[in-house]
Amino acid sequence: MSSPDVTLVAILVDATATLGAVKSMPELEQVKAKYLGKSGSLTEQLKSLGKLPPEEKKTTGAAINEVKSQVETLINDAKTRIANAELASKLAAESIDVTLPGRNPGIGGLHPVTRALERIESLFATMGFSVADGPEIENDYYNFTALNTPPNHPARSMQDTFYLANSEHVLRTHTSPVQIRHMQAQAEKGGPPIRIICPGRVYRCDHDATHSPMFHQIEGLWVDEGISLADLKGTLTQFFRAFFERDDMQIRFRPSFFPFVEPGVEVDMEWENKGGKIKWLEIGGAGVVHPQVLRNGGIDPEKYSGFAFGMGLDRLAMLKYGVNDLRLFFENDMRFLSQFR
Ligand code: DAH
Repeated sequence: MSSPDVTLVAILVDATATLGAVKSMPELEQVKAKYLGKSGSLTEQLKSLGKLPPEEKKTTGAAINEVKSQVETLINDAKTRIANAELASKLAAESIDVTLPGRNPGIGGLHPVTRALERIESLFATMGFSVADGPEIENDYYNFTALNTPPNHPARSMQDTFYLANSEHVLRTHTSPVQIRHMQAQAEKGGPPIRIICPGRVYRCDHDATHSPMFHQIEGLWVDEGISLADLKGTLTQFFRAFFERDDMQIRFRPSFFPFVEPGVEVDMEWENKGGKIKWLEIGGAGVVHPQVLRNGGIDPEKYSGFAFGMGLDRLAMLKYGVNDLRLFFENDMRFLSQFR
């Protein structure tokens, strides 16, 4: 066996080289065990002290401990070096590239029906109309009776109504009840002039490519002294031409029946004009407000007259934006909706 001094020097030389080269914490643990573990080389040296004559024990023991503390210093140095390297590589991997473009938060947009509505509201505003609102859950009186549609009147069956369980309330089948509510409120404040549009959701049991159980209407009402069918024609013609941006667009009024107007008309707009051959599209109903409806609204039909109209808002949006299936408006498919951003 070589002298303990020679062995200790060899251990120190070996430890310096090995610890200088370790690259990771697990590797360092192994190397540490090789010197200081249960059967590590320095541990073995300490164990062998017992076999030495007493006079050598002290000096050799001191020499072993000296080497041991040097190895421990080497281990701590290696530990610091590895920790620093690991931190540096982590920082490099997780660094933020400030030159990259930011994440797009996604810009929302208005629903096409909302867009059409906002445009319609602003066009009617230029003609002096303000916007009125009413409840979607209506009672039978406002949805039918006050609009001159008594119980058992055949006009009630024209509309496939959703009744609530108490059968006194309905999901409103049209926006016309807002006419009555607004007239009554206005009568308390001194009566006409009244010039409103009432947009909103309406409900009917109906579902196909051009009908949805929920859809939107826009009601219009103008009541004042001397208002006639001529005012209706002028107002609607002006509106359609502005909305579709076609100054020469033809509007047709066909006699029709609605219990709340007399006379009543159906409103058609020119959709296609091939050399004078016009393709008409029905877009709403209208007429001169029935005297009984004015009375129900608290307004004197001897003094005042008015016109009313009701149009399909979704239909107008479909025509304006070239959408051919009504259901697209209510399916919330982003591929469809994002085209209107
Ligand atoms: N409320 C009718 C419907 O939904 C439409 C309508 C027709 C409204 C004539 C009116 C009107 O104001 O005068 O079918």
